[in-house]
Amino acid sequence: MKPGEMKRPLAARRSGPLCGIAAGPGDKSISHRALILGALAVGETKISGLLEAEDVLNTAAAMRAFGAEVVRDAAGDWRVWGRGVGGFDEPKDVLDFGNSGTGSRLVMGAMATTPITAVFTGDESLRKRPMGRVLEPLSKFGAEWTAREGGLMPVTIRGPQDALAIEHEVTVASAQVKSALLLAALNAAGRSRITQRALTRDHTEKMLKAFGAEISVEPLKGGGETVSVLGEVELKAANVDVPRDPSSAAFPLVAALLVPGSEIVIPAVLLNSRRTGLFETLKEMGAAIEIAKVRESGGEEVGDLVVRASSLRGVEVPAERAPSMIDEYPILAIAAAFAEGRTVMRGLEELRVKESDRLAAIVAGLKACGANVEELADGMIVEGRPGDISGGARIATHMDHRIAMSFLVCGLAAKERVSVDDVSMIATSFPEFETLMRNLGADFKVPNK
Ligand code: S3P
Repeated sequence: MKPGEMKRPLAARRSGPLCGIAAGPGDKSISHRALILGALAVGETKISGLLEAEDVLNTAAAMRAFGAEVVRDAAGDWRVWGRGVGGFDEPKDVLDFGNSGTGSRLVMGAMATTPITAVFTGDESLRKRPMGRVLEPLSKFGAEWTAREGGLMPVTIRGPQDALAIEHEVTVASAQVKSALLLAALNAAGRSRITQRALTRDHTEKMLKAFGAEISVEPLKGGGETVSVLGEVELKAANVDVPRDPSSAAFPLVAALLVPGSEIVIPAVLLNSRRTGLFETLKEMGAAIEIAKVRESGGEEVGDLVVRASSLRGVEVPAERAPSMIDEYPILAIAAAFAEGRTVMRGLEELRVKESDRLAAIVAGLKACGANVEELADGMIVEGRPGDISGGARIATHMDHRIAMSFLVCGLAAKERVSVDDVSMIATSFPEFETLMRNLGADFKVPNK
């Protein structure tokens, strides 16, 4: 939500079968990276299927502020003329990343080894999120920074004159931190080695390879991997075809599972195995999800999901699976509330520092909807009640798009309507959500109060 903008509540009611094709938006993670790598490369990068949502548009604006030429030709079709590694200009103003942790943290890395100064800020939600996890390791490259107490934005970073490669282990299960360090390493002399025990999403690594970086990945005994990247190399512009976002597809998908009689198709969804933990979990719960026409597109695997309404049963989700579905726990918790039996979700400390404290927001919302849920320090336990979730609640979204979409989906299957206090943040990741869901048959209305 932009400053001065009013909150926009919305209510969802129990709906008839959801049917049709749900062509969701482009992948957010890949969209940010395509713009950033395009801006660091030499030549013209062409992007198709770019997610035109607020978070990504803020990254596009930041790339312009660093001197890259970023042009929109048509819906989803963009071109970027980069500055080359180490070629960023100093932005003339503060960079405002709105709600986006990914955009801000990746760009911190991308500029931190160039001798310029940049100031980063964001909205009320982003200004509460920890930036020290990126800033502290960036110091190893020689970057200097200041932040508010607790490593909060606004943040100022000054890159060193001559950055040197680093060796570093990322101890948080965060792809943003790993990616920020890989991007910083591009302008640091020598070979940087970044180790992470958790297998977080690997879009930066894949895209760096496609842009001609010297990058290699070595699996570690006992789990995890080390990514090595050589600094001071030239990136060459490339074409990026952005697949549809599995994290956004999750909302129509779960809606179709929960609303009796539904059948939908979600075409060309990204199937990168580090992003598909939700599909795997839902299948274990008994969901009818068929993955058809698996093919390759722009270096990533994609496929069409055919989804039919299903009776779900509770499962224990392995904690090691969390990185591959970290953004999907809010909607999984909704599915769990409608499943027979108990679903245990653990290893979710990171959910406390997302766009909101998602564990607290999900648990409070589910309780208000009459579900049986217990909050744990690192997760939650949901005792499902198929066909018996009362709804009839108004949910606080805490400026969190995924909390808003999850509880609107809950309202489509609950006995009484569920309203959310604000849907404006949905535009940060999935601007077409309301229209797409209505076209499938979702009963959404602006509540009277
Ligand atoms: C993202 C990584 C994840 C995820 C976010 C996108 C990325 O965050 O929650 O939506 O594109 O690298 P963390 O790295 O903080 O886990």
